[in-house]
Amino acid sequence: MLDTRSETPRAAALSMHALTHVYGAGDRAVHALRGIDLTLAAGSFTAVMGPSGSGKSTLLNCAAGLENPTGGRIVVEGRDTAGWSEHKRTVLRRERLGIVFQGFHLVPYLTAAQNVALPSRLAGRRPDRRRVAELLAAVGLADRAGHLPAELSGGQQQRVAIARALVTAPAVVLADEPTGALDTAGARHVLELLRGVVDRMGHTVLMVTHDPTAAAFADEVVFLVDGRVAGRLYGPTADAVAGQMAHLDDLVGARR
Ligand SMILES: Nc1ncnc2c1ncn2[C@@H]1O[C@H](COP(=O)(O)OP(=O)(O)OP(=O)(O)O)[C@@H](O)[C@H]1O
Ligand SMILES: [Mg+2]
Repeated sequence: MLDTRSETPRAAALSMHALTHVYGAGDRAVHALRGIDLTLAAGSFTAVMGPSGSGKSTLLNCAAGLENPTGGRIVVEGRDTAGWSEHKRTVLRRERLGIVFQGFHLVPYLTAAQNVALPSRLAGRRPDRRRVAELLAAVGLADRAGHLPAELSGGQQQRVAIARALVTAPAVVLADEPTGALDTAGARHVLELLRGVVDRMGHTVLMVTHDPTAAAFADEVVFLVDGRVAGRLYGPTADAVAGQMAHLDDLVGARR
């Protein structure tokens, strides 16, 4: 029998193996992912870049269990999720994955603290007030716990969303363009926070971004083109990332 443990290093927080995803069927089929192999080592920060439509959000949504991949395997902390029921994937998402969206997705009528506590409530647990307070302090919003999202800036709302994503101490924080709706200063604050989430709190982060400056905060950048990994860059600088992106655009142009 295949021993998946020997294939998956113990230190991997999440890995994808020959991952494929097709939306629709027949003439209308869109092959969004065409065989992705990607391992997120525990305590690493990975950025995913690529042209619009290259499959970045699909990759993230598959990793998050929001989309059920058509083929291949996703292994979270050594557990192969292939064939899992919707319910089992929902529990995994709630307990082991933290998700951050471009548009923050905070509940507008709950305070910052109540938003951070929400994943615990949804899991049927009494929220740990101290942990919620610690997380709000960690994202620099200790004094805003009682504020509603509408009373916070975009950058502050995103920091609340990051605190919420961390409340269950997830295996991986998955962020889809977390700075896409922010101004430069707000974006920088969020990126420094994500870097700290990895360096100081020991979490694992996978972030989709369009912005080379944002990608340069990661340890590694993975470039997607047409649903495939087209390149990788370790220790990225914004200039090196921008250079790669320009090259990727050429590649895509050449295929059309
Ligand atoms: N629900 C869907 N139904 C059908 N096709 C979809 C669906 N969602 C995405 N696609 C298609 O799958 C491909 C990959 O989309 P995806 O959203 O993953 O791209 P992306 O890299 O995140 O793009 P962007 O940078 O614009 O956000 C695209 O061709 C897109 O049109
Ligand atoms: Mg997208």
